[in-house]
Amino acid sequence: MTIHILVGTTSGNTEFLAETLQTRLEAAGKQTQLHDLPALKEVPVADTSWLICIATHGAGEYAESMLDFMADLAKQRPDLSSIKAALVSIGDSSYDTFCQAGIDTQTLLKDLNATLICDRLDIDMMLDPDPEGTAEAWIENKLDLF
Ligand SMILES: Cc1cc2nc3c(=O)[nH]c(=O)nc-3n(C[C@H](O)[C@H](O)[C@H](O)COP(=O)(O)O)c2cc1C
Repeated sequence: MTIHILVGTTSGNTEFLAETLQTRLEAAGKQTQLHDLPALKEVPVADTSWLICIATHGAGEYAESMLDFMADLAKQRPDLSSIKAALVSIGDSSYDTFCQAGIDTQTLLKDLNATLICDRLDIDMMLDPDPEGTAEAWIENKLDLF
């Protein structure tokens, strides 16, 4: 089964991080498809896995490349009960709304009945000297959960 990696980025950091996770998943023999500008009509909403990597921008808003996807998800409200989802949330703890986009994504996924296969990872781009390493360490014991 393909793991669909959905990237929410404005300035590119999250795409780099998502590609690191894609490399690790593929090294473990997983099939992946990276969506750098996810569109709801192109991403399957049943019987598959999503790995969402999303940065927070603005005042706690979704990063640019996933604005439309999240708006469409909230509007169309597909039943995600056969979706396994994992969530990596990128932010900066100097903002009051630290990782708010990831928190809101998690709320919406739960609301639409997706199964979250593990706890959300929040990455603090201000304090973490090696965000890609943190993400790689996080995914290591989850490779077979997707
Ligand atoms: C204008 C601006 C607003 C931001 N707002 C937030 C925020 O509200 N909460 C947060 O946790 N991080 C915030 N950040 C930090 C970004 O999430 C962080 O820089 C991240 O690395 C950006 O990822 P990207 O390059 O994939 O877009 C903001 C960054 C910028 C430039």
